[in-house]
Amino acid sequence: MTSDTGTLAVRRSGPRPDEAGPPLVLLHGFPFDARMWDAVVAHIPQVPVLALDAPGFGDSPSPQHVARALGRDAAPALELTADAVVATLDAEGVARAVVGGLSMGGYVALAIAERNRSRLAGLALLDTKAGEDGAAARENRLRMAAAAEGDAGASAVAGMVEALLGETTRAEAPDVVATLRTWLAAAPPAGIAWAQRAMAARPDRHHALVDLEVPALVLRGVEDTVATQEDAESMARALSGRSAGAAELVVVPRAGHMTALEASGATASALAAFWRRCS
Ligand code: MLT
Repeated sequence: MTSDTGTLAVRRSGPRPDEAGPPLVLLHGFPFDARMWDAVVAHIPQVPVLALDAPGFGDSPSPQHVARALGRDAAPALELTADAVVATLDAEGVARAVVGGLSMGGYVALAIAERNRSRLAGLALLDTKAGEDGAAARENRLRMAAAAEGDAGASAVAGMVEALLGETTRAEAPDVVATLRTWLAAAPPAGIAWAQRAMAARPDRHHALVDLEVPALVLRGVEDTVATQEDAESMARALSGRSAGAAELVVVPRAGHMTALEASGATASALAAFWRRCS
């Protein structure tokens, strides 16, 4: 799909947002697309959901196309993705949304909290962190970006399966492992490269949480080694002094970094309860 307005591809489910309350806008992790949420939304038909493909992934236009349409520089930056999400809300006629992001999607949700907080009716941060990368993590990302653009292509991300899935899933859910391997093998190399450089450039965004005046949810899989319990607690701490109330911190058992896939029922229940709180 291409768009002349800088909008992103949307997978819609549930009732119309204007009848049911603010939509739950879901932002996927790296290097996937909005299909990552299919198992979750299947559990919550009562919730209006808009699941978006990030620029360069799924059916969304490339970051370069989005940047041109929004009159922006295409240098890799998650702020561009955040602005494209907001442009998509505009196009959908949505004034305020409950925004939930998993990992890279969480980094984008944090950028929205910083830049466009009046568009938020609630913020759900799943398997993510508000801190910036250290030097070694940044270098790894830049190496992977170069590899994806070179001979490796999508195979640059093939090794991620171990880090993304918890030990329980790897031992007991071969279907989930197979799905993830298939998605990784089909990840778009140009999208991989741009997103890795954008994630490497992201700043610390704890400050965006401190005075956020909407409800917040922090959720992680107990076996997640990419976004740790300390990362989750650090976001919860930043959210703790607000007049909107402390964040709820949910730890999902038997799941790693990909809670939406590994524990779709528990993730859906937490998101639906949170959406009700925000509606
Ligand atoms: C993701 O799941 O989106 C990635 O693990 C994010 C990251 O590489 O930091």
